[in-house]
Amino acid sequence: MAETVGPEMVGPEIVGVDEAMEPALALIRGGDVVAIPTETVYGLAGDATNGVAVARIFEAKGRPRFNPLIAHVADFAMAERIAHFDPLSMRLAKAFWPGPLTLVLPIRADGGIHPLVTAGLDTIALRMPRGFGGELIARLGRPLAAPSANSSGRISATSATAVAKDLGSRIRLVVDGGATPVGVESTILKVEEGRVRLLRPGGVAAIEAEAVAGVPLSRGAKGVEAPGMLASHYAPGAAVRLNARSVTGEEALLAFGPKRAEGWRDAVATLNLSASGDLREAASNLFAYMQDLDRSGASTIAVEPIPFEGLGEAINDRLARAAAPREISLPTK
Ligand code: TXA
Ligand code: MG
Repeated sequence: MAETVGPEMVGPEIVGVDEAMEPALALIRGGDVVAIPTETVYGLAGDATNGVAVARIFEAKGRPRFNPLIAHVADFAMAERIAHFDPLSMRLAKAFWPGPLTLVLPIRADGGIHPLVTAGLDTIALRMPRGFGGELIARLGRPLAAPSANSSGRISATSATAVAKDLGSRIRLVVDGGATPVGVESTILKVEEGRVRLLRPGGVAAIEAEAVAGVPLSRGAKGVEAPGMLASHYAPGAAVRLNARSVTGEEALLAFGPKRAEGWRDAVATLNLSASGDLREAASNLFAYMQDLDRSGASTIAVEPIPFEGLGEAINDRLARAAAPREISLPTK
């Protein structure tokens, strides 16, 4: 039955796979996150169509920035609702799914994946896991976003107790499926014009993937899509001005909290990341609102100050990157 990590430590409940399905479903349907076993490593899973659930994943991991996450699916029908498959990607999926292979594919705009999962990218990393994760997704009927269930900067967890010790009271439930059989993360491949790039080596050996693909995997400098490099992908057409205390009639306003910047009524458009100042809500709205304001035709998006605590650090990191290519001065208050 359920147990906690240690006598004096307040940790999440650890529940065996045989009893965990209903509590895991209830938490995920409620927009919460759950640590689940997969064949590779434990994942920190949340509903990939629910922005607040995805924000909670980043919050629990303590990631200082929004890296794109893998969306996990239960079957090919679900996968094809989310992404476009070229024939070579489909061949690889058919050979290795369910299993330790992740494919990066063009995302379908109407696939229901929340933009925080991809950090605004137009591609999505997809994987069909074995075991409890696959069953959970099938029961839920929706994809699960799940990075490895470790805090930022720590190694991936391969047992339920490792997850509980690392993430502690930041999560409520760890589903215990024992030691993960593969023990390393999934291999990440991306097909580009008939070539197959190895973005991350993992549970499927390169030689096995090459045998199915019929071509050698390309690696090397261009093959490294480090999270830090990915983070610069979305620069809006408009300039971005941070820490705005006032706004002009040529600018659009990205607001936060109950108090508006001076002159906001004259702004081309205003969207509020969270009127109540909730950083989780703000994170879930960030990518869509940046894109909407960019389309408003404003020359500049003025962004109200956003606190640096909790998810605010990742929100500010993203905004600073959007602002970075331009010559701007950051008002220091
Ligand atoms: O085995 C695994 O893959 C585990 C289990 C839980 O499924 N998950 C995992 O997730 O390792 P995570 O978030 O720790 O690593 C996902 C990797 C990151 O390096 C990220 O940059 C990359 O996938 N990634 C995600 N979306 C991408 C995209 N659209 N293009 C390129 N890389 C992407
Ligand atoms: Mg990881």
